Amino acid sequence: MKIELLEILRCPKTNQKLRLEVPEYLNGLVRSAWLVSEDGHQRYPVREFIPRFVPESNYADNFGMQWNKFRQTQLDSYSGHPISANRFWQATGWNVEDIAGKWVLDVGCGAGRFAEVALQAGAKVVALDYSRAVDACLTNLRHYPNLHVVQGDIYSLPFLKASFSFVYSLGVLQHTPDVARAFAALPGMVAEGGWLCTDFYWKRLRTLLHSKYLFRPITKHMPQQQLFHFLEKTVPALLKTSQLIGRIPLAGRYLKRLIPVADYTGVYPLDERQLREWALLDTFDMLGPQYDSPQSATTIRQWMSGAGFNQVEVFQANLLVVRGHKI
Ligand SMILES: C[S@@+](CC[C@H](N)C(=O)[O-])C[C@H]1O[C@@H](n2cnc3c(N)ncnc32)[C@H](O)[C@@H]1O
Repeated sequence: MKIELLEILRCPKTNQKLRLEVPEYLNGLVRSAWLVSEDGHQRYPVREFIPRFVPESNYADNFGMQWNKFRQTQLDSYSGHPISANRFWQATGWNVEDIAGKWVLDVGCGAGRFAEVALQAGAKVVALDYSRAVDACLTNLRHYPNLHVVQGDIYSLPFLKASFSFVYSLGVLQHTPDVARAFAALPGMVAEGGWLCTDFYWKRLRTLLHSKYLFRPITKHMPQQQLFHFLEKTVPALLKTSQLIGRIPLAGRYLKRLIPVADYTGVYPLDERQLREWALLDTFDMLGPQYDSPQSATTIRQWMSGAGFNQVEVFQANLLVVRGHKI
Protein backbone atom coordinates (compact mmCIF):
# COMPACT_ATOMS: atom_id res chain seq x y z
CA MET A 1 0.00 0.00 0.00
CA LYS A 2 1.18 3.49 -0.85
CA ILE A 3 0.74 6.23 1.74
CA GLU A 4 -0.92 8.43 -0.90
CA LEU A 5 -3.95 6.12 -0.78
CA LEU A 6 -4.77 7.27 2.78
CA GLU A 7 -6.06 10.57 1.31
CA ILE A 8 -9.09 8.82 -0.14
CA LEU A 9 -9.39 5.68 2.03
CA ARG A 10 -12.25 5.78 4.54
CA CYS A 11 -13.69 3.38 7.09
CA PRO A 12 -16.43 1.49 5.18
CA LYS A 13 -18.61 1.36 8.31
CA THR A 14 -18.32 4.93 9.64
CA ASN A 15 -16.82 6.94 6.78
CA GLN A 16 -14.14 8.19 9.16
CA LYS A 17 -10.55 8.77 8.08
CA LEU A 18 -8.15 5.92 8.75
CA ARG A 19 -4.74 6.15 10.39
CA LEU A 20 -1.89 3.68 10.15
CA GLU A 21 -0.78 1.75 13.22
CA VAL A 22 2.34 -0.42 13.54
CA PRO A 23 3.30 -0.15 9.87
CA GLU A 24 6.04 -2.36 8.49
CA TYR A 25 7.57 -0.95 5.29
CA LEU A 26 9.38 -2.59 2.39
CA ASN A 27 10.85 -0.44 -0.39
CA GLY A 28 8.74 2.54 0.71
CA LEU A 29 5.47 0.55 0.61
CA VAL A 30 3.35 -0.47 3.59
CA ARG A 31 3.66 -4.23 3.70
CA SER A 32 1.64 -4.77 6.86
CA ALA A 33 -0.16 -2.51 9.33
CA TRP A 34 -3.51 -1.78 10.93
CA LEU A 35 -5.83 0.85 9.51
CA VAL A 36 -7.71 2.34 12.44
CA SER A 37 -10.77 4.60 12.33
CA GLU A 38 -10.59 8.04 14.01
CA ASP A 39 -12.61 6.89 17.03
CA GLY A 40 -10.41 3.79 17.32
CA HIS A 41 -13.37 1.37 17.14
CA GLN A 42 -12.77 -0.12 13.67
CA ARG A 43 -9.55 -1.84 12.63
CA TYR A 44 -8.64 -3.31 9.25
CA PRO A 45 -5.44 -5.15 8.39
CA VAL A 46 -2.96 -4.36 5.66
CA ARG A 47 -1.52 -7.74 4.63
CA GLU A 48 1.02 -8.33 1.88
CA PHE A 49 0.76 -4.67 0.78
CA ILE A 50 -3.05 -4.73 0.43
CA PRO A 51 -5.61 -3.09 2.75
CA ARG A 52 -8.26 -5.73 3.47
CA PHE A 53 -11.81 -4.74 4.41
CA VAL A 54 -13.58 -8.09 3.90
CA PRO A 55 -13.78 -11.49 5.59
CA GLU A 56 -11.01 -13.90 4.53
CA SER A 57 -13.52 -16.29 3.01
CA ASN A 58 -16.64 -15.11 1.18
CA TYR A 59 -19.07 -15.91 -1.67
CA ALA A 60 -16.45 -14.87 -4.25
CA ASP A 61 -13.84 -17.49 -3.24
CA ASN A 62 -14.32 -19.15 -6.66
CA PHE A 63 -13.07 -15.94 -8.27
CA GLY A 64 -10.10 -15.77 -5.92
CA MET A 65 -9.14 -19.27 -7.00
CA GLN A 66 -9.83 -18.58 -10.68
CA TRP A 67 -7.77 -15.40 -10.92
CA ASN A 68 -4.82 -16.82 -9.02
CA LYS A 69 -4.79 -19.94 -11.24
CA PHE A 70 -5.18 -17.89 -14.42
CA ARG A 71 -3.34 -14.84 -13.21
CA GLN A 72 -2.03 -13.68 -16.58
CA THR A 73 -4.24 -15.40 -19.12
CA GLN A 74 -6.40 -12.42 -20.09
CA LEU A 75 -3.86 -9.66 -19.69
CA ASP A 76 -3.08 -8.17 -23.08
CA SER A 77 0.60 -7.97 -22.12
CA TYR A 78 0.52 -11.77 -21.77
CA SER A 79 -1.88 -12.85 -24.54
CA GLY A 80 -0.18 -10.57 -27.06
CA HIS A 81 -3.55 -9.30 -28.31
CA PRO A 82 -5.41 -6.06 -27.41
CA ILE A 83 -8.55 -7.97 -26.40
CA SER A 84 -9.01 -6.30 -23.00
CA ALA A 85 -7.95 -2.88 -24.34
CA ASN A 86 -10.49 -3.04 -27.18
CA ARG A 87 -13.26 -4.00 -24.78
CA PHE A 88 -12.26 -1.30 -22.27
CA TRP A 89 -12.13 1.62 -24.73
CA GLN A 90 -15.22 0.46 -26.61
CA ALA A 91 -17.29 0.08 -23.46
CA THR A 92 -16.16 3.25 -21.68
CA GLY A 93 -15.85 5.57 -24.69
CA TRP A 94 -13.05 7.34 -22.78
CA ASN A 95 -9.66 8.01 -24.31
CA VAL A 96 -6.07 8.09 -23.11
CA GLU A 97 -5.97 11.89 -22.73
CA ASP A 98 -9.17 11.82 -20.60
CA ILE A 99 -7.89 9.44 -17.96
CA ALA A 100 -4.14 10.17 -17.86
CA GLY A 101 -3.23 11.47 -14.40
CA LYS A 102 -6.81 11.04 -13.08
CA TRP A 103 -8.08 8.87 -10.21
CA VAL A 104 -9.82 5.87 -11.74
CA LEU A 105 -11.69 3.18 -9.78
CA ASP A 106 -11.90 -0.40 -11.10
CA VAL A 107 -14.58 -2.26 -9.11
CA GLY A 108 -14.19 -6.04 -9.33
CA CYS A 109 -10.75 -5.88 -10.92
CA GLY A 110 -10.10 -9.64 -10.99
CA ALA A 111 -6.51 -10.22 -12.10
CA GLY A 112 -6.34 -6.67 -13.48
CA ARG A 113 -6.90 -7.02 -17.24
CA PHE A 114 -8.67 -3.65 -17.48
CA ALA A 115 -6.60 -1.96 -14.76
CA GLU A 116 -3.57 -2.70 -16.93
CA VAL A 117 -5.14 -0.76 -19.81
CA ALA A 118 -5.95 2.24 -17.60
CA LEU A 119 -2.47 2.18 -16.04
CA GLN A 120 -0.83 2.12 -19.46
CA ALA A 121 -2.84 5.25 -20.26
CA GLY A 122 -1.26 6.94 -17.21
CA ALA A 123 -4.28 6.86 -14.85
CA LYS A 124 -3.98 6.58 -11.06
CA VAL A 125 -5.86 3.32 -10.69
CA VAL A 126 -7.46 1.92 -7.55
CA ALA A 127 -8.18 -1.74 -8.32
CA LEU A 128 -10.69 -3.22 -5.87
CA ASP A 129 -11.99 -6.75 -5.59
CA TYR A 130 -13.89 -8.74 -2.97
CA SER A 131 -11.83 -11.88 -3.49
CA ARG A 132 -8.20 -12.94 -3.27
CA ALA A 133 -7.99 -11.92 -6.93
CA VAL A 134 -6.39 -8.75 -5.52
CA ASP A 135 -3.19 -10.72 -4.85
CA ALA A 136 -3.03 -11.80 -8.50
CA CYS A 137 -3.74 -8.23 -9.60
CA LEU A 138 -0.94 -6.80 -7.46
CA THR A 139 1.54 -9.44 -8.63
CA ASN A 140 0.64 -8.70 -12.25
CA LEU A 141 0.78 -4.93 -12.09
CA ARG A 142 3.01 -3.95 -9.17
CA HIS A 143 5.56 -2.40 -11.54
CA TYR A 144 3.14 0.47 -12.24
CA PRO A 145 3.84 3.30 -9.76
CA ASN A 146 0.24 4.57 -10.15
CA LEU A 147 -1.41 1.33 -9.00
CA HIS A 148 -3.29 0.94 -5.70
CA VAL A 149 -4.94 -2.38 -4.80
CA VAL A 150 -7.69 -2.81 -2.19
CA GLN A 151 -9.61 -5.90 -1.07
CA GLY A 152 -13.08 -4.50 -0.45
CA ASP A 153 -16.79 -4.95 -1.05
CA ILE A 154 -18.85 -3.02 -3.57
CA TYR A 155 -21.61 -2.84 -0.95
CA SER A 156 -19.42 -0.85 1.43
CA LEU A 157 -16.71 0.82 -0.58
CA PRO A 158 -13.88 2.13 1.64
CA PHE A 159 -13.40 5.49 -0.10
CA LEU A 160 -14.18 9.16 0.36
CA LYS A 161 -17.26 9.96 -1.72
CA ALA A 162 -16.75 11.59 -5.15
CA SER A 163 -13.02 10.76 -5.20
CA PHE A 164 -12.85 9.39 -8.73
CA SER A 165 -13.14 11.13 -12.11
CA PHE A 166 -13.75 7.73 -13.73
CA VAL A 167 -15.38 4.61 -12.31
CA TYR A 168 -15.88 1.36 -14.18
CA SER A 169 -16.98 -2.14 -13.32
CA LEU A 170 -16.76 -4.62 -16.18
CA GLY A 171 -17.95 -8.22 -15.95
CA VAL A 172 -18.84 -7.89 -12.27
CA LEU A 173 -22.28 -6.69 -11.21
CA GLN A 174 -24.22 -9.76 -12.38
CA HIS A 175 -22.07 -11.81 -10.02
CA THR A 176 -23.22 -9.96 -6.89
CA PRO A 177 -26.18 -11.02 -4.74
CA ASP A 178 -28.22 -7.83 -5.28
CA VAL A 179 -27.36 -6.24 -8.61
CA ALA A 180 -29.47 -3.08 -8.15
CA ARG A 181 -27.83 -2.37 -4.80
CA ALA A 182 -24.37 -3.08 -6.24
CA PHE A 183 -24.96 -0.58 -9.06
CA ALA A 184 -26.31 1.96 -6.55
CA ALA A 185 -22.98 1.91 -4.71
CA LEU A 186 -21.10 3.35 -7.71
CA PRO A 187 -22.58 6.80 -8.56
CA GLY A 188 -21.54 8.22 -5.17
CA MET A 189 -17.89 7.41 -5.91
CA VAL A 190 -17.89 9.54 -9.08
CA ALA A 191 -16.75 13.17 -8.83
CA GLU A 192 -18.93 15.91 -10.29
CA GLY A 193 -18.31 16.02 -14.03
CA GLY A 194 -16.98 12.45 -13.90
CA TRP A 195 -17.96 9.31 -15.79
CA LEU A 196 -19.34 5.89 -14.87
CA CYS A 197 -19.35 2.76 -17.03
CA THR A 198 -20.61 -0.71 -16.13
CA ASP A 199 -21.67 -3.75 -18.11
CA PHE A 200 -23.99 -6.70 -17.56
CA TYR A 201 -25.02 -10.02 -19.00
CA TRP A 202 -27.93 -9.05 -21.22
CA LYS A 203 -31.29 -10.38 -20.07
CA ARG A 204 -32.74 -11.64 -23.35
CA LEU A 205 -33.90 -14.99 -24.68
CA ARG A 206 -30.55 -15.79 -26.28
CA THR A 207 -28.72 -15.36 -22.95
CA LEU A 208 -31.30 -17.25 -20.92
CA LEU A 209 -31.15 -20.20 -23.36
CA HIS A 210 -27.41 -20.55 -22.75
CA SER A 211 -26.69 -24.16 -21.81
CA LYS A 212 -24.75 -23.05 -18.68
CA TYR A 213 -28.09 -22.34 -16.96
CA LEU A 214 -28.94 -26.06 -17.17
CA PHE A 215 -25.83 -26.99 -15.20
CA ARG A 216 -25.36 -24.03 -12.83
CA PRO A 217 -27.93 -25.20 -10.24
CA ILE A 218 -25.53 -28.13 -9.61
CA THR A 219 -22.12 -26.67 -10.40
CA LYS A 220 -22.45 -23.51 -8.28
CA HIS A 221 -22.88 -25.72 -5.21
CA MET A 222 -19.95 -28.02 -5.97
CA PRO A 223 -16.70 -27.58 -4.03
CA GLN A 224 -14.79 -25.29 -6.37
CA GLN A 225 -11.61 -27.43 -6.48
CA GLN A 226 -13.72 -30.44 -7.45
CA LEU A 227 -15.49 -28.48 -10.19
CA PHE A 228 -12.16 -27.21 -11.47
CA HIS A 229 -10.64 -30.71 -11.64
CA PHE A 230 -13.74 -31.99 -13.41
CA LEU A 231 -13.49 -29.19 -15.98
CA GLU A 232 -9.77 -29.74 -16.46
CA LYS A 233 -10.64 -33.25 -17.63
CA THR A 234 -13.74 -32.42 -19.71
CA VAL A 235 -13.14 -29.00 -21.25
CA PRO A 236 -10.60 -30.12 -23.89
CA ALA A 237 -13.11 -32.63 -25.33
CA LEU A 238 -15.99 -30.16 -25.06
CA LEU A 239 -13.92 -27.55 -26.87
CA LYS A 240 -13.06 -29.97 -29.69
CA THR A 241 -16.74 -30.90 -30.04
CA SER A 242 -17.77 -27.27 -30.11
CA GLN A 243 -15.11 -26.49 -32.73
CA LEU A 244 -16.30 -29.40 -34.91
CA ILE A 245 -19.94 -28.38 -34.65
CA GLY A 246 -18.93 -24.78 -35.38
CA ARG A 247 -17.67 -25.89 -38.79
CA ILE A 248 -21.14 -27.05 -39.93
CA PRO A 249 -22.24 -24.53 -42.57
CA LEU A 250 -24.89 -22.00 -41.43
CA ALA A 251 -26.29 -23.88 -38.42
CA GLY A 252 -22.93 -24.57 -36.76
CA ARG A 253 -22.55 -21.25 -34.97
CA TYR A 254 -25.98 -21.69 -33.36
CA LEU A 255 -25.70 -25.41 -32.58
CA LYS A 256 -22.36 -25.00 -30.82
CA ARG A 257 -24.11 -22.94 -28.14
CA LEU A 258 -25.59 -26.21 -26.87
CA ILE A 259 -22.15 -27.24 -25.65
CA PRO A 260 -21.42 -25.71 -22.23
CA VAL A 261 -17.92 -24.50 -23.00
CA ALA A 262 -16.40 -21.07 -23.64
CA ASP A 263 -15.21 -21.42 -27.23
CA TYR A 264 -13.46 -18.35 -28.63
CA THR A 265 -12.50 -19.97 -31.95
CA GLY A 266 -12.98 -17.32 -34.63
CA VAL A 267 -13.89 -14.73 -31.98
CA TYR A 268 -10.40 -13.80 -30.76
CA PRO A 269 -7.10 -14.39 -32.60
CA LEU A 270 -5.84 -16.91 -30.04
CA ASP A 271 -3.66 -19.93 -30.85
CA GLU A 272 -4.76 -23.48 -29.93
CA ARG A 273 -2.99 -23.44 -26.53
CA GLN A 274 -4.59 -20.11 -25.66
CA LEU A 275 -8.02 -21.28 -26.83
CA ARG A 276 -7.75 -24.22 -24.42
CA GLU A 277 -6.60 -22.01 -21.55
CA TRP A 278 -9.33 -19.39 -22.12
CA ALA A 279 -11.91 -22.18 -22.49
CA LEU A 280 -11.02 -23.66 -19.10
CA LEU A 281 -10.92 -20.25 -17.41
CA ASP A 282 -14.20 -18.98 -18.80
CA THR A 283 -16.08 -22.27 -18.50
CA PHE A 284 -15.16 -22.27 -14.80
CA ASP A 285 -16.24 -18.59 -14.77
CA MET A 286 -19.64 -19.61 -16.22
CA LEU A 287 -20.31 -22.55 -13.93
CA GLY A 288 -18.65 -21.63 -10.62
CA PRO A 289 -20.08 -18.25 -9.51
CA GLN A 290 -22.73 -18.20 -6.78
CA TYR A 291 -24.63 -15.45 -8.61
CA ASP A 292 -25.38 -14.88 -12.29
CA SER A 293 -28.19 -12.35 -12.85
CA PRO A 294 -28.55 -10.84 -16.34
CA GLN A 295 -30.23 -7.42 -16.62
CA SER A 296 -32.41 -5.76 -19.24
CA ALA A 297 -31.49 -2.64 -21.20
CA THR A 298 -34.46 -0.75 -19.74
CA THR A 299 -33.46 -1.55 -16.16
CA ILE A 300 -29.86 -0.44 -16.44
CA ARG A 301 -30.79 2.76 -18.29
CA GLN A 302 -33.22 3.58 -15.46
CA TRP A 303 -30.54 2.93 -12.84
CA MET A 304 -28.07 5.28 -14.51
CA SER A 305 -30.59 8.04 -15.26
CA GLY A 306 -32.17 7.65 -11.82
CA ALA A 307 -28.76 8.27 -10.24
CA GLY A 308 -28.71 11.72 -11.87
CA PHE A 309 -26.40 10.94 -14.79
CA ASN A 310 -26.84 12.45 -18.25
CA GLN A 311 -25.55 11.48 -21.69
CA VAL A 312 -26.68 7.96 -20.77
CA GLU A 313 -25.94 5.37 -23.44
CA VAL A 314 -26.89 1.69 -23.47
CA PHE A 315 -25.39 -0.56 -26.14
CA GLN A 316 -23.78 -3.92 -26.72
CA ALA A 317 -20.00 -4.15 -26.56
CA ASN A 318 -19.22 -7.72 -25.60
CA LEU A 319 -21.76 -7.48 -22.71
CA LEU A 320 -24.59 -4.93 -22.38
CA VAL A 321 -22.96 -1.63 -21.44
CA VAL A 322 -24.39 1.43 -19.72
CA ARG A 323 -22.37 4.59 -19.35
CA GLY A 324 -23.09 8.12 -18.28
CA HIS A 325 -21.82 11.51 -17.14
CA LYS A 326 -22.34 12.92 -13.66
CA ILE A 327 -23.65 16.47 -13.63
C1 LIG B 1 -16.07 -12.34 -13.73
S1 LIG B 1 -14.95 -11.58 -12.62
C2 LIG B 1 -14.45 -10.16 -13.59
C3 LIG B 1 -13.11 -9.62 -13.18
C4 LIG B 1 -12.57 -8.52 -14.11
N1 LIG B 1 -13.39 -7.34 -14.09
C5 LIG B 1 -12.45 -9.08 -15.51
O1 LIG B 1 -13.33 -8.81 -16.32
O2 LIG B 1 -11.48 -9.82 -15.75
C6 LIG B 1 -16.01 -10.83 -11.40
C7 LIG B 1 -15.23 -10.21 -10.26
O3 LIG B 1 -16.15 -9.51 -9.40
C8 LIG B 1 -15.67 -9.67 -8.08
N2 LIG B 1 -16.75 -9.40 -7.13
C9 LIG B 1 -17.84 -10.17 -6.88
N3 LIG B 1 -18.57 -9.63 -5.88
C10 LIG B 1 -17.94 -8.48 -5.50
C11 LIG B 1 -18.20 -7.50 -4.50
N4 LIG B 1 -19.24 -7.61 -3.67
N5 LIG B 1 -17.35 -6.46 -4.39
C12 LIG B 1 -16.27 -6.35 -5.22
N6 LIG B 1 -15.96 -7.27 -6.16
C13 LIG B 1 -16.79 -8.33 -6.31
C14 LIG B 1 -15.18 -11.11 -8.05
O4 LIG B 1 -14.35 -11.38 -6.97
C15 LIG B 1 -14.52 -11.23 -9.41
O5 LIG B 1 -13.14 -11.01 -9.38
